[in-house]
Order: sequence, then structure tokens, then C-alpha cells
Amino acid sequence: MSKLESLLNQMTLQEKIDQLTQLATPFFKGAKDAGEITGPMLAMNIGEENIKNTGSVLGASGAANIRAIQEKHLEENRLKIPLLFMSDVVHGYKTIFPIPLAIGCSWNTQLAEESARIAAKEAAVSGIHVTFAPMVDLVRDPRWGRVMETTGEDLYLNSEFAKAQVRGFQGNNLKESTEHVAACVKHFAAYGAAEGGRDYNTVNMSDRQLQELYLPAYKAALDEGCKMMMSSFNTIDGIPATANQTLMNGLLRQEWGFDGVMISDWGAVKELIPHGVAADKAEAAAKTLRAGTDIEMMTDCYISHLHELVETGNIEESIINQSVLRILQLKEDLGLFENPYRGADAAKEEEVIMSPSHRTATKQVAAESSVLLKNEQVLPLTTSQKVALIGPFANSGDILGQWSWLGSKEDAVTLQQGMGKKAEQELLISKGCEVENINSSSLEEAIQIGKKADVIVVALGEDSIMSGEAGSLTDIQLPEAQLHLLAALAKLEKPIVTILFNGRPLDLHGVIEHSDALVEAWFPGTEGGNALADLLYGDQNFSGKLTMSFPYSVGQVPVYYNHYNTGRPKGAADAQVRYVSQYLDSPNEPLFPFGYGLSYTTFSYQELQLSTDQLKTDDTLTISIKVSNKGRRSGAETVQLYIQDVVGEVVRPVKELKGFQKINLGAGETKEVQFTLTEEQLRYYHADMSYTSDPGEFNIFVGPNSKETTSQSFRLI
Ligand code: NOJ
Repeated sequence: MSKLESLLNQMTLQEKIDQLTQLATPFFKGAKDAGEITGPMLAMNIGEENIKNTGSVLGASGAANIRAIQEKHLEENRLKIPLLFMSDVVHGYKTIFPIPLAIGCSWNTQLAEESARIAAKEAAVSGIHVTFAPMVDLVRDPRWGRVMETTGEDLYLNSEFAKAQVRGFQGNNLKESTEHVAACVKHFAAYGAAEGGRDYNTVNMSDRQLQELYLPAYKAALDEGCKMMMSSFNTIDGIPATANQTLMNGLLRQEWGFDGVMISDWGAVKELIPHGVAADKAEAAAKTLRAGTDIEMMTDCYISHLHELVETGNIEESIINQSVLRILQLKEDLGLFENPYRGADAAKEEEVIMSPSHRTATKQVAAESSVLLKNEQVLPLTTSQKVALIGPFANSGDILGQWSWLGSKEDAVTLQQGMGKKAEQELLISKGCEVENINSSSLEEAIQIGKKADVIVVALGEDSIMSGEAGSLTDIQLPEAQLHLLAALAKLEKPIVTILFNGRPLDLHGVIEHSDALVEAWFPGTEGGNALADLLYGDQNFSGKLTMSFPYSVGQVPVYYNHYNTGRPKGAADAQVRYVSQYLDSPNEPLFPFGYGLSYTTFSYQELQLSTDQLKTDDTLTISIKVSNKGRRSGAETVQLYIQDVVGEVVRPVKELKGFQKINLGAGETKEVQFTLTEEQLRYYHADMSYTSDPGEFNIFVGPNSKETTSQSFRLI
């Protein structure tokens, strides 16, 4: 019998059940601070004994605090089973990195790995063992506020970033390296497809869509060794994921063989009642546990009812044992039985957290995450220009994003601070308006300041709470006040550079037409102002490219690059004027497509070559293309490879991303970029859900974004 099994054998039934419950920090007596509350606090039937036996804590931080809770717990817990400390360290702990949607736009998985490594290092020294990240939900609807937490709309790209983050958080050996934390991939499954973009809403999709688009990134994280998984709030085929047998026991446990810990999302077990699939907490507990969810987060269905369910023969104790063993195994993998305090070290915290090298790293990520959307010869600025910096984000520290609960706005470098260090003439500053309000005197002040400048930099955006969890919107234009300010400044007929700080693709009506240059800075994190100043003054070149399409207007949503063609595609040679798939009042295409982003230099693509035009199933196709930097300064370009299966058994997307490479090119330099493709990468789910490829014609597209590509074709034989 293993050490963990013998420990399990010593546990009473109630001790086992308590182990399956996760409580937030305020429940723990030893806690020196209340910890972060990241969901609704509901009344719970939790007694002193339950707390002594509980298995994990949510939202605690700080080495001294966590040590105190653990110490008290070990004094009181009969079998001395250490607590697991879990928190949302999503894009940084105290050194905050750009939001994940921005990190995706870097197309630089090494940087993503490094940002996760640093986040883990700061979290681990503060006593945290598990982070609720990476969030890898595929997204197509910018109304959903949580698009900021993911890397975007593509399954391949999301999978690559999922793997990179898992590597960064977990390192190679969690027991040996106390500088790493276990990762928990979320939210399983398809949380990003909430109907209407309304958070927590129903998800309705075909099994094919689920398998083909939504599941790969979770699977990629697990294949990379991710220790934990969190279920999602939504329904999948009519059954909430939390208690979905087919999804959890069937797909996750049996088919994929995942034997790590599955945790519910906050309160989701009890939410089976309002969902209408459980009459009461007892039924919710039974359904959830049976589905394979080991830990119940922040409700008391397990604690209050599993005991009686076992006694009445409605739940077998063996299911509880299995879940407890998984949790004990995670504690063992993290080395907690030997060292329950693990990395928590108050003295080292000082030196590790927000160290200069961490700040340098986040600055680099921010510089690669910002996307230059438009530039009519206005950028880069010169340091001798007289710049008016106007707008509610000119000097705002609210640039960290909603998931930066330990990040402090005071530590963030604002745009004004960053630009101020470079400009030779003092910046002319005016807020102009609040994020959602404007008054005539602040507007007038901004206009007067604008009149004195050579160029006006307008810093606009969304408050961080306008995106993130429970941050859904139906109108994704900037608030009226800011559009009003921008329109008024545009009348001055000075060059205008608009910088956007926000968490979702926006409808840019009212912005694009008044901006000579436009930068999507997202929420760029702690070093945002410095990174942007480097970019705006040309000390760094832009290289970010969008990983989520910017709709032309919200009425197009969902709009994404890998759509189907339809039987009546717009623009086909024999297309009619009216009876084609189109809007009468809008283009079909997004304003800015997936993969799009400008640079201060220009790149050209030539000589796309395929090693063969007949690919055999056991062979490899090599695709090569020459990419040249045509400009007078160096730059980085992300070369993107897409395919299209021209005739399938099931309709296939017009393009599917299959590879990308980010390369550096000096002025005038040319490099050859090579990709390889095998038959495996051409497979998809057929009518009978078999995952195979079709012989026949395929198109290959290579280019700087999903729209402007050069193409060739080959046959799979
Ligand atoms: C709810 C969120 O959906 C989830 O992402 C998060 O990890 C938990 N709360 C815990 O804070």
C-alpha cells in the first residue's frame, strides 16, 4: 500500500469530505489578512471542525500570512495533512505582465513562458502552491469581458500559448523547484462561447465544434503536464460542465486519461440548483462528485451532504476516496508532506518580488504585445516635437487589467511617466474627460492644450473593471465622453496618435477616422508606460499582431478569420448582387483581421515554394518563403502559415492557422522561413466523428496576417 493510501485509510469519512472543499482565506483563523474575494460570499454551513480538516485555501497571499495559516492548520489537523494554497496568478503576481490577450499578440511563446515563470517565482516565494491559470478558452465574441484572459480566437495559437504557460508555471519538477507552482488550466469546457457574450450564459454548440475548436487548448495544457483543471460555469449540451458525466468522466478521465485534480469554479456546485438540474444541495453534491469533480470551491454541498449520501447508499465511499487520493497526490507532488511551507519565505519575498529583472521582462512583453493598427506617417515621434498628451489614460495607473489582484496601480508606470522621460520639451498634459464623463471645462482645457502642440497623443480606453469576469457589454465602442473628446481634438487639424488601453477588441467607429496613428496597447502591465514610450519614440519597433479580430461593428459579432465559406459566398465570380451571404449595411470582414499589425518597417514576401505538390500520407511537405525587410530599420515579423482543405466531407474553414514564426530582420535583410506539414495536421472530425484527413486538394497560404497572403496548392495522395 502506498504512503498516500495508508494516510487515506486513517482518515474518517468526514475528514475525507472536508478535504474536498476549498474555502477562501477569511475562513481561516491564522490568516493575517482577509485575502482576495473573487466571487460571491454565500452563507455556508461550515463549522470549526470542517475548517480544521479542509484541503485547500483560495486567495491567500504573502509568505508570513500563508505560513501562519499553515502552522495553525498543522497544529489543529489530526493527521497533519498540509493545506494547499491556490490563487489566481493569471498574468503576474505583483510584477504585472500585459493581459493574456495582449501576450497572445506578441506571438512569442518564449516570452509567455518567461512571464509565467516569473509570475510563479513571485507567487511561490509568497507561499502559493497552485495558480488558477492558464485560462485557454477560445473566444469569438468581444462582448464577453473575459476575452482579456485568453490568447484569442485560434485553437492552434491558444494551444501553443497554453503549453508555454504550463512550462513556465510548473518548470520541470515541482517537488525540487519550490520556485514553481502547479498550474490549473481553465475553464473546461468552452466557457468562451457564452451566448450573446453574456458571462455565465448558456453554451450551445455541436460536438464537432467542441472537439475541433474548443477542446484542443485544454488538451494541449494537459499533455504538457498541467496538474489541475477547473470546470466552467456553463452548460455543455444542456448539462452544466460541473456535473457533466460525458465531459468529465467520459472525455476527460477515460478518453484523455487525466488523473489530476479537477476543481469546480467558484460556487458552481450549488449553482446546479438555479441551472435547474439539481433539486437541492444534496443532489448537486451527488451529481458533481459522480461526474469527477474533486474539489468544490466555495459552497458547502459536499460538506453538508456527502456524509448522508454515503450512509444512505447513494454515493459509494470509493468515489470520495479516489478524489481525496488525487488531492493528496498533488500535495505529494508539490513536496508539501516534507515541507508544508514550501517556497514561502518572507525574507526572500523582498528581493524576488518586483525585482529589476522582472520589471525588464514585463517591459519587453508589453513592447511586443502592443499592436500598431494604423500609421499615416505620424509615428515614431521625435523627441523634439511638442507633444500634447490628453485623455483619461494619459496618467492613469489603471493599466494592469482586472486579474491583477496583487498588482498595485501605484507601481505601474503611466504613459505620461514613460513619455516624460524621453520628450525634450515638457509634455502638455490634460485629462480631457473621465472614462465615462465629460464636462465643458475639461474639454475646453484639452482643446487649448492641443492647440499648442505639434502632435496630439490621445490616451483612451476602458476602466479595467469594464472587462474581465462579469464584464460583458453590448456596446463595445469607447464611452461617448471619450469619443466626444477625440472628435473635438480632431477639429484642431493636428496629427493625432490614439493609444487604447482596454481588455477587448473594440468597435472603433469614432476612433479610427479621427486618428492618424492608432495603437492598441491593451492593459500593458506594470511597465506599460515605459514600453509604450519606447515604441512611440521609435526606440523599439512594433511587432504585435492581433489574435482576435476587431469587428467592423458589434452587429457582425461573432466575426473570426477561420469561418466557413457558405454556399453563397460574397465576392465569388458568379455572385449575384443581392442573394449572397452578406450584410446590407456592413462589410462581412472585420475592420482588422486576425494576425494583423503594422511595423515601422515594411516586409515583403516572395518565392513561396512547396517541396512537392503531391504529399504522401507518410511524408512531410516543406513550405518555404523568402521574407525581406524593405525598410530602413530593423524589425520583427511574424510569418503565418494557413491551410485550406478545398473539398472535405464536412465543410472546412476558409483558412486554418498551422504554424507561425517570429523572425528578426535587419534593414534590407532577407531570410528564408521554412514550415513543415504532415498528413496529421490535415485531419479533422468527419461525419462519424473519426479524426482523419481527406485525399485531394489543399491550399497553402503564407503571409503577414490572415488576409494578405500568397498561396499555392498541393494534393494529399
Ligand atoms: C471565478 C473565475 O471564473 C475563475 O476563473 C477563478 O479562478 C475563480 N473564480 C477563483 O477566483
